[in-house]
Amino acid sequence: MDNVLITGASGFIGSFLAEEGLKRDYSVFAGIRNSSSKKYLADPRIKFVTFDFSSVEKVSETLKDLQREGIRFRYIIHNAGLTKARKKEDYFKVNFLNTKNFILALQETDMVPEKFILISSLAAYGPGNPVTMEPVKLSDKPNPIEHYGKSKLEAEKFLMSLNGFPWLTFRPTGVYGPREKDYYVFFKTINHGFETYIGTSKQVLTFIYVKDLVRLVFDALLCPLTCRSYFVSDAKEYDAELFAAIVKKHLNRKTIRITVPSVLVKGLAISLEKVYGLWNSIPTLNSDKYSVLSSKNWRCEVDPLLQDFGFTAEYDLEKGVKETIEWYKKEGWLK
Ligand SMILES: NC(=O)c1ccc[n+]([C@@H]2O[C@H](COP(=O)([O-])OP(=O)(O)OC[C@H]3O[C@@H](n4cnc5c(N)ncnc54)[C@H](OP(=O)(O)O)[C@@H]3O)[C@@H](O)[C@H]2O)c1
Repeated sequence: MDNVLITGASGFIGSFLAEEGLKRDYSVFAGIRNSSSKKYLADPRIKFVTFDFSSVEKVSETLKDLQREGIRFRYIIHNAGLTKARKKEDYFKVNFLNTKNFILALQETDMVPEKFILISSLAAYGPGNPVTMEPVKLSDKPNPIEHYGKSKLEAEKFLMSLNGFPWLTFRPTGVYGPREKDYYVFFKTINHGFETYIGTSKQVLTFIYVKDLVRLVFDALLCPLTCRSYFVSDAKEYDAELFAAIVKKHLNRKTIRITVPSVLVKGLAISLEKVYGLWNSIPTLNSDKYSVLSSKNWRCEVDPLLQDFGFTAEYDLEKGVKETIEWYKKEGWLK
């Protein structure tokens, strides 16, 4: 049984990565923090490793402890990441510096795996050109529009600067599915009978269902390719209205359509950030999120996934939303 370490295993995507690892008979090590929830990591086959990525020394200590127990990771999926933060510095600490510390510690302790997969984000490249509406391509110059994307890009650049380190980077577009909490807000709004839009101009959206993403990542572990990056989507294109229509259909709801002028949403995002900041927390709608929500073109090039991994998505939005809603209902998240 090969050992695979999944960092950020307690989160939405991480918990599905852990399940996929078990399904494929890996010995799954869930990299978590002391404070992490184990709610979706209940399978007794999962082993836990607590990491503090805040310094090379701390990570090295943990890796040395594992070495003493005779544990090495053949594969590492570095999925831990911060998607919402109150301060710009937090994105850089978690998404960039922690990744750098982790890699330096792996090198220092001679624990470099056969494959190291970084879960980055389409946000590291930013949206595509809003005029030509061309998809973002691997050959494009990255242009992240918010701090989250910029921090992901820094981590990617660090990987690219290394010699002889066997990395692959995946840049998923919006990931949805059971356990997900941000798109859930959209589902909940529709369930309450409202369909909200920002401004009137059309937006091209792309998605990947969480189960397709984790299947791709595990296929990629076994592929000999290294030192390459890939955008990930289900290869289809949607818009906000189609997304809403699919959600409405599966919730069997009629809605009242509300279009909020962009300038109002921007103002609201900034105000919410200030109010939530008083309690040291982050609203789902914040100014970075506004930049993402108001961008017109989230197309990305995915042909290389088919060429290099033979990947095609099993779930389109219709199939994925249906399964997600079934889960939200089963768990009582949606009534
Ligand atoms: N969801 C999407 O649409 C999407 C799209 C593209 C890329 N991604 C990337 O996919 C990865 C997983 O995202 P997700 O949607 O599953 O988010 P999530 O549910 O918030 O999970 C994030 C995970 O990272 C861990 N983490 C956060 N800060 C950490 C720190 N300082 N040290 C160690 N672990 C830390 C969290 O641990 P705790 O449980 O302890 O907080 C959690 O396990 C992230 O790297 C994200 O950037 C997500």
